[in-house]
Amino acid sequence: MTMLVHLNGKLIPAKEALISVFDHGFLYGDGVYETMRVYDGVTFMLDEHLNRLYRSALMIGLIIPVEVNSLKNYIYDTLIANSLKEAFVRLTVSRGYGPIGIDPDLCHSPTIVIIAQEMRDYPKSFYERGISLIISEIRRNPREALNPQIKSLNFLNNILAKIEAKKKGSYDAIMLNVYGMVTESTISNIFFYKENVLCTPSPDCGILEGITRGIIIEIALRDGLIVKEGEFTKEDLYSADEVFITNTTLEVMPVSRIDNKEYPVGNITRLLHKAYKEEVKAYVAKVKAEGPSIWGYE
Ligand code: PDD
Repeated sequence: MTMLVHLNGKLIPAKEALISVFDHGFLYGDGVYETMRVYDGVTFMLDEHLNRLYRSALMIGLIIPVEVNSLKNYIYDTLIANSLKEAFVRLTVSRGYGPIGIDPDLCHSPTIVIIAQEMRDYPKSFYERGISLIISEIRRNPREALNPQIKSLNFLNNILAKIEAKKKGSYDAIMLNVYGMVTESTISNIFFYKENVLCTPSPDCGILEGITRGIIIEIALRDGLIVKEGEFTKEDLYSADEVFITNTTLEVMPVSRIDNKEYPVGNITRLLHKAYKEEVKAYVAKVKAEGPSIWGYE
């Protein structure tokens, strides 16, 4: 079956879904995006993701020329056209076509792309045994330079850390901020459990405030755990009992090693992942009951 991509309001075959070499998303990384996960035809936390997309756009002075409900319809149309129920959706809005030059006013019409693809689950062994991370030498760009709260197409900061991790034989990297405090991993937030407290860097450290992160904090508080959002050093991580990372597609992923320090896949990590899955189930059931999910269109 030919994959269809939503490009500027139209569904077109993937091979024909092309954008200009003058697109400022390509030339300058000038744009924003969201990655969403679809469970049983329902886009999880759709409103939250779209809110963040508009917020990111606002922070770079990019006006998304369509309303949120149109974006929702575009997403559902793309899922239906590709008969997808278990999927991930990548929604990108770039500054659009314009002559060479960084001035955003050179561009008059943002490019909007929605790609929906079947969910490729991470290997089971990752969840059973955990993944290995390094503390990267690359520091997370400070909020004062390029605020990590902006989910932008400008990903080189994180890509450099990922390259370093792979070179050192690890799966991914943790980035510190310029003050040496832990921020996040390259495409995920980080948590650790130590002396009965669930810890995660606060937004002030310069992180993208993940939607998954928010849910995990809520679940933990509801389950009676003590949660501390604060400033942490790499030594805090090294001395933790359990470590895990979170994002939309990987959910909760245990970490088995950071540099030379090893961790077991602990009970709190397992418990929170299970509770997260329950949360997803409840969300999907609620959306389906309220309709329309994409299958409600049938
Ligand atoms: N990444 N931090 C960074 C730098 C990220 O890029 C992401 C998401 C997160 C977690 O956010 P959320 O829980 O809302 O997915 C944290 C997505 C998955 C991506 O880049 O595709």
